[in-house]
Amino acid sequence: MNRRFIIITIIAMTIALIGLMGIQIYWIQSASAIKEANFRRSVNEAMVKVIQKIEHIEKAKSMRAGQDERVLSFSRHLPYDSILSLPELDSLIRLQLNIRGVDTRYEFCIYKPERQEFLMERSSVFRKELIEKGNAFVLFQSDIYSSPEYLLIYFPREKQFLLTELWGMLLISIILIIVIVYSFTYTITIIFRQKRLSEMKNDFINNMTHEFKTPISTISLACEALGDKDLRGSSDMLENYISMIRDENRRLAGMAEKILQTAVIDKGQLKMNMEKTDLHEIIQSVIRNLRIQVEIKDGEIIRNFMASRSRIEGDKVHITNLVYNLLDNANKYSPRKPAIRIHTENVSNGIVLTIEDNGIGIGKAEQKKIFDKLYRVPTGNIHEVRGFGLGLSYVKAIVDEHHGKISVESEVNKGTKFKVFLPFVIKE
Ligand SMILES: Nc1ncnc2c1ncn2[C@@H]1O[C@H](COP(=O)(O)OP(=O)(O)O)[C@@H](O)[C@H]1O
Ligand SMILES: [Mg+2]
Repeated sequence: MNRRFIIITIIAMTIALIGLMGIQIYWIQSASAIKEANFRRSVNEAMVKVIQKIEHIEKAKSMRAGQDERVLSFSRHLPYDSILSLPELDSLIRLQLNIRGVDTRYEFCIYKPERQEFLMERSSVFRKELIEKGNAFVLFQSDIYSSPEYLLIYFPREKQFLLTELWGMLLISIILIIVIVYSFTYTITIIFRQKRLSEMKNDFINNMTHEFKTPISTISLACEALGDKDLRGSSDMLENYISMIRDENRRLAGMAEKILQTAVIDKGQLKMNMEKTDLHEIIQSVIRNLRIQVEIKDGEIIRNFMASRSRIEGDKVHITNLVYNLLDNANKYSPRKPAIRIHTENVSNGIVLTIEDNGIGIGKAEQKKIFDKLYRVPTGNIHEVRGFGLGLSYVKAIVDEHHGKISVESEVNKGTKFKVFLPFVIKE
């Protein structure tokens, strides 16, 4: 799968997702519009009914009071509080609203705009809202003798009420969208991780082939030479070729060992042989092995053993390899005059070993990955420095086995500093 295809898929998927969300939002919006229209209609119907009732009662009461029926149909004769009490009006409104499924808090009043007078009201808290945002219904519409009076009704929690009816739908939509977005990003990260892994594997195989080729061809040349009868006479030559074969063979074995070891780590079969081990001694022996390689490049190894207690519980062989890998890297990735500083110090429950170089450094983004198996900081297609990208993952595995910690600080072109903490004793 190439990069372009992945990117196109991501874009297509993103567009599809956005489209889906758009449709979803549109549906919810229209559903909420319908809900709102229904709500308005129910309120209207309820209030028309309430007003009819009020007018009806007024008529009956004033007739009983002996008013002329001819005039009656046009005007209001009684003050509102003698038509019906506030609780009566309240329960009338509640009944009519409830019948129509409007089950939310409401405020109402009877208002005469001409005199800005509240003829009836439950409380004066919502006056402003009632006038500005309330639904108004004219009372005694046919009364042509006096200025209009309104029954105002206001729902303080109207938005929430309409939303609660929709929240189920909204919630499900949101959950579905989250699930889709999550699985999508997860899939994409997996694809990229797989891709990176396969690239690294390719790199590894290329590297390995390269590394194995040189000793193999050297050995085969040496063997050919040994087969030559003319050469057999000179024992110097013989000795020379044999030592050549021995050296190259050792190199091959070392490389094979390295690769096998990672396979062992992978399977979790790393066997530790924990014993009292002197870290300073180990460092000394590794320095002895590496000194020549550093000095060839006109570099130096500076040690500063500050730890007064240097014996820890650990596996001699693996810790030697650990130190070797770190020092080898410090040397390998310092192209000019390596200055490798080795520092140890005691902390309360163990030793901190610091290995610092003045080499090419590692970028911030790469620092997180260098402990991954097969990872090598990309430097374009060609690597000036050979390696399998296994060293640091091995180091990390060993540090973990010893219940220690490893961290890296680095700045590109300035240098790199690895800090390893190893405890005196390994607690289970
Ligand atoms: N001291 C260092 N300075 C700069 N880069 C380093 C250093 N140590 C490790 N690296 C980077 O981390 C990568 C992984 O290191 P490692 O696992 O030892 O693999 P290898 O040395 O075989 O490439 C290296 O390829 C290199 O890019
Ligand atoms: Mg290495």
